[in-house]
Amino acid sequence: MIILKSEREIAIMREAGKIVALAIAEVTRAVRPGISTGELNALVENLMAKQKARPAFKGYHGYPASICTSINEEIVHGIPGLKVLKEGDIISIDIGAEINGYFADAAVTLAVGDIDPVSRRLLETTAQCLEAGIRQCTKDKRLSDISHAIQSVAESNGYSVVREYVGHGIGRAMHEDPQVPNFGKPGRGIKLSPGLVLAIEPMVNVGRFDTAVLDDNWTVVTKDGSRSAHFEHTVAITERGPEILTRC
Ligand code: MF3
Ligand code: CO
Repeated sequence: MIILKSEREIAIMREAGKIVALAIAEVTRAVRPGISTGELNALVENLMAKQKARPAFKGYHGYPASICTSINEEIVHGIPGLKVLKEGDIISIDIGAEINGYFADAAVTLAVGDIDPVSRRLLETTAQCLEAGIRQCTKDKRLSDISHAIQSVAESNGYSVVREYVGHGIGRAMHEDPQVPNFGKPGRGIKLSPGLVLAIEPMVNVGRFDTAVLDDNWTVVTKDGSRSAHFEHTVAITERGPEILTRC
């Protein structure tokens, strides 16, 4: 069931989105060779406490941390801990916040120091995938126009799009209908109505799109070991087009 949000509800989600954006900005400043993923998690926990927001991921289906940190061939849902970042790594950081019962969710992939040209282009392309998806968020478009735009940007740059994990509606729950795949033919699915709020989150691999889950039962990796990037925003569809709720 798809739940459209009122102006009042979107105003609360805007507050949650602002805190997620602050947290993303904070970890973006902090990422450098020598910092551990656990330290990044602690930075976000402190920020959320100060802002009186709840870290949305903690305890979600038993998830043990407040953010997800996925390095190199890890796609999503990496668990922060003792792992230390090193020059040349890429790290995807995914953050969710809940305020007054409403959620916002965003992710970025960051370079740790200097990275190789393929990784740099992967990050640029995946960010462009997200932007292309967001540009489709107008009331004349359909859901799969977002999916198709994302896939086109990724594949025209020679990368592949993950199939098993997708974007989602968001509101009073972190994951609501509809699912938002990052691939598909255009012109299919529901019309994008004002009040629809979506977490759009392309996951793009250098190699093949196949995934596997590690023994920790959370960390999703590429089967072929190639690197992967992930960018996400929570986006409200309005009469005037997309409003990105998780941008500073
Ligand atoms: N942004 C992620 C998603 O939409 C949230 C991480 S799920 C958690 O799937 F379990 F790690 F919290
Ligand atoms: Co999400």
